[in-house]
Amino acid sequence: MAPGLQSIALYSGLAMARGTGCRLVDEDGNEYIDFIAGIGVGSVGHCHPTYVEALRAQIERLTFGSFTTQARARFLERLASLTPPGLTRIQLFSGGAEAVEAAFRLAKSATRKREFIGFWGGFHGKTGGVLGLLGDEFKHHLGPFMPGLYASPYANCYRCPLHLTYPDCGIACAEHLRHVIRYQTEGEIAAIIVEPMQGTAGNVIPPQGFLRAVQAIAKEHDALLIADEMLTGFGRTGRMWGCDHDGVVPDVLTVGKGIGGGFPLSGVISTDELTGAKPFANPSGSSSSYGGNPLAAAAGLASLEIIVKEDLATNAERVGAAMLARLQGLQEKYRFVGDVRGKGLMLGVELVRDRATKELLPKEVTQALYQECLRRGLVTMCYSPIIRINPPLIIDEATAMEGLAILDEAMAVVAAASRLG
Ligand SMILES: Cc1ncc(COP(=O)(O)O)c(C=O)c1O
Repeated sequence: MAPGLQSIALYSGLAMARGTGCRLVDEDGNEYIDFIAGIGVGSVGHCHPTYVEALRAQIERLTFGSFTTQARARFLERLASLTPPGLTRIQLFSGGAEAVEAAFRLAKSATRKREFIGFWGGFHGKTGGVLGLLGDEFKHHLGPFMPGLYASPYANCYRCPLHLTYPDCGIACAEHLRHVIRYQTEGEIAAIIVEPMQGTAGNVIPPQGFLRAVQAIAKEHDALLIADEMLTGFGRTGRMWGCDHDGVVPDVLTVGKGIGGGFPLSGVISTDELTGAKPFANPSGSSSSYGGNPLAAAAGLASLEIIVKEDLATNAERVGAAMLARLQGLQEKYRFVGDVRGKGLMLGVELVRDRATKELLPKEVTQALYQECLRRGLVTMCYSPIIRINPPLIIDEATAMEGLAILDEAMAVVAAASRLG
């Protein structure tokens, strides 16, 4: 395999054999609690019996092609029963970036405009049309980017890009968006794209009102609001949608990851009116080879059935709150735990050398922390000083606490070895 594998797999050096629920077993028989779920993909955990059975049954009937199937019709009906009001027209794809690119084509078709605004720290995939909106240095040396892409500061309150403090700031970062539009763009904004909570940036939770302010600005400019709910959708944050926390119904939702429970499945969801715009709406205008294929539809249907039947949004809220409290305990115990935050099972921790300067811990220390966690049976993204914790939504409190106890123990070992407070 070429270099460039996901860091969590690369740094682990592990070969995985199987998984059940929230646990993975490697080829040597070692067991690990899974705090990452394929980076938010495995919403219903590993090999959930309902999921396995649904895919087994579909694979014996029909596996490819874009004709209507029972699996797809039932999946779409189920999905449309969970989406925010009015957002019931869905096009299916197989990857997240592909869905975001499709959302951009939809926005261009519907508005006849061509510019897009994202946010610092944002992530919407690595393909050509969205790479320019990647909000960090990851995109360096990969340009030139698609013209007409702009970015504005996100409401990352721990590291406020404007050096202000909420709520006195009056959510000045949203106001800054107005300046970006005024001074940087051609005034042809087709859409503003925003993660309701930023995943790749470190599970950053914006304050109440941020999303609403962004929506108001989109409206002022007759631009669509695209909520990229790839990570925040389907219950992860304790509500069905990340946007629900701020009472926002966007114009377009992009979904992926957890919707397929591990199967490559993504989608663009919007209104009848917007998705009816051409050329998006032309025959073959928004399709793809794998979009809505029978296996993906069966996987999606099974995942949604499990999410609803087992009320995984409520589970995420409850277990997530307990995890956040335990992480706050770690912040009290270790001075190098600079920030903990989270909504539901979307939790972030920042490890810093100094709480005042917020300088991040060096990677050698966090790599050691990762190895100590692995040795004790936990996979979590602590190889980086900005830790993201996203376990499967089915995780129970006992397993969650067992995993955090391992993180605590590993922190103690690394703190002693690296002489950290
Ligand atoms: C918010 C968000 N959008 C889009 C993507 C891209 O998804 P994919 O990796 O499936 O292309 C990701 C992936 O992490 C994501 O977190």
